[in-house]
Amino acid sequence: MSLEKLLADRLAQAFAAVAGGPVDPVVRRSQHADFQSDAALPLARRLGRPPRDIATDVVGRAELADLCTVVEVSGPGFINLTVADPALGTLLSTMAADTRLGVAPSVNPQTVIVDYSAPNVAKEMHVGHLRSTVIGDAAVRLLDWLGHRVIKANHLGDWGTPFGMLIEHLLDLGESEAAHELSVGDLDSFYKAARVKFDADDAFKQRARLRVVALQSGDEQTLRLWRMLVAESEKYFLTVYDQLGVLLTDKDFYGESYYNDMLAPVTDELDRLGLLRDSGDAACVFPDGFTGRDGQPLPIIVRKRDGGYGYGATDLAAIRHRTRDLGATRLLYVVGLPQRQHFEMVYAVARQAGWLHPPAVAEHIGFGSILGSDGKMLRSRAGGSIKLVGLLDEAVTRAAELARQKNPDLPDAAIAEVARAVGIGAIKYADLSTDRIKDYVFDWQRMLSLDGNTAPYLQYAHARIRSIFRRAGIEQPTGTPILVSHPAEHALALELANFGAVVTGVEQTLEFHRLAGYLHTLATTFSGFYEHCPVLRAEDEVRDSRLALCDLTARVLRQGLHLLGIATPDRM
Ligand code: ARG
Repeated sequence: MSLEKLLADRLAQAFAAVAGGPVDPVVRRSQHADFQSDAALPLARRLGRPPRDIATDVVGRAELADLCTVVEVSGPGFINLTVADPALGTLLSTMAADTRLGVAPSVNPQTVIVDYSAPNVAKEMHVGHLRSTVIGDAAVRLLDWLGHRVIKANHLGDWGTPFGMLIEHLLDLGESEAAHELSVGDLDSFYKAARVKFDADDAFKQRARLRVVALQSGDEQTLRLWRMLVAESEKYFLTVYDQLGVLLTDKDFYGESYYNDMLAPVTDELDRLGLLRDSGDAACVFPDGFTGRDGQPLPIIVRKRDGGYGYGATDLAAIRHRTRDLGATRLLYVVGLPQRQHFEMVYAVARQAGWLHPPAVAEHIGFGSILGSDGKMLRSRAGGSIKLVGLLDEAVTRAAELARQKNPDLPDAAIAEVARAVGIGAIKYADLSTDRIKDYVFDWQRMLSLDGNTAPYLQYAHARIRSIFRRAGIEQPTGTPILVSHPAEHALALELANFGAVVTGVEQTLEFHRLAGYLHTLATTFSGFYEHCPVLRAEDEVRDSRLALCDLTARVLRQGLHLLGIATPDRM
């Protein structure tokens, strides 16, 4: 159990006795003491007593002697808690002895679907897909670590009307040339060339239309060409995933086409439930509570007049499949904010249709845009969309230069490994360390800086601790009791003890910037400790205890970064 929870539980008992009913003591870290509870203030009106009076009463009743040295009332009725060093030492010794660092798996494991990445076949992945991939990967890692059954769903855009023109373009190019372009990741020029012909050439447009019909009616030759487009694009996406070091594999592609056979039954079911309306050119559902600017109800398009199904129909089929067939109770959609309303509408329809009900919940894990230094959407210098591989390669190249400067005598292979960890880590961390619903500016200088809230800073902090052990020629300490006495040890211990609470907070909110911010504070607090408390020069049990604190810090940094998908090289 986390320290915060431990204190809260004790205070809760005292509050309950004073208030005559359950009260959340809202225990938080504080500038004025180690922890503070503000819960007496809102009780004042209800109990008709001054808040200081209530707080004093609670302090008198709370059994905290084994955990705190100071429990006092301050200001208008805050309760300030200072944790006892021996209690911290015991807590950290237990944490250090645990391979899970004191973070127990969830007592309520769920089946969670993470719908993420989801690029479109024969189209370059854009920075939005990068964000989805990075955030989704962190979600998968963290939820998996907490014992949930996590299903990765890469909702590839692999179906729909554009495939008519794409297949015709493929035929024009010749199959082997097309396959080559796609597998080397020349997706944008492939897509654009098809688009140009479609817009300019009526005969091509007609062929494309017929091709869509052939595809939808299951024509074998057309399906074969379609499969080729999908397979070549998948191959390319897998190289990007590999470069990014994310957990997605070829087993996780559940593209839109995966749901094709479910679309007719889903439509029938919506019809039987009386939810389907004919809107002239399509059969739609109008979920309650969604209207456009003109006040008219907004539709989810299910089936178009030509028989094709809409993007929304596939999402409805996917929800029904995920809750009914896969037994998922938590459905996460890591997709940019512009699609928020689409998902809210899809969830509303699914609830009305009875496919989404408690305990199952669906959450849109939205995110903002990545901006260039001009404050506009990140674009290439020529104004086009940025090629993702190019961006990742540049990150690694820049990190390699840094690594060389820092470590002129490291062998090339080691530099390459560090460069990959630092370059890719920097890109991921820049993304995960900002509140995901905000936009952020893509800035090489900042993300690769060795100071500040960056991946290189944290990776360096980790490597520096590992080097203490290397230099002293000692193994990782095992079973050494941790003794806390210096104020800098106390501060570090408080941070370390907070790890579990931060991780379980992020389990709920998927706000990874909270974990990132925590790791950054931990690393700076460690610096303070290392500055004030000699480690190798200390004697006997103090030295052992401080080494154990160092090791525990390194392990928390490593595990925390690992949950964000960021590698921690042993030396940098
Ligand atoms: N392929 C879509 C895009 O590029 C994202 C798909 C998101 N997932 C979903 N279930 N609709 O915008």
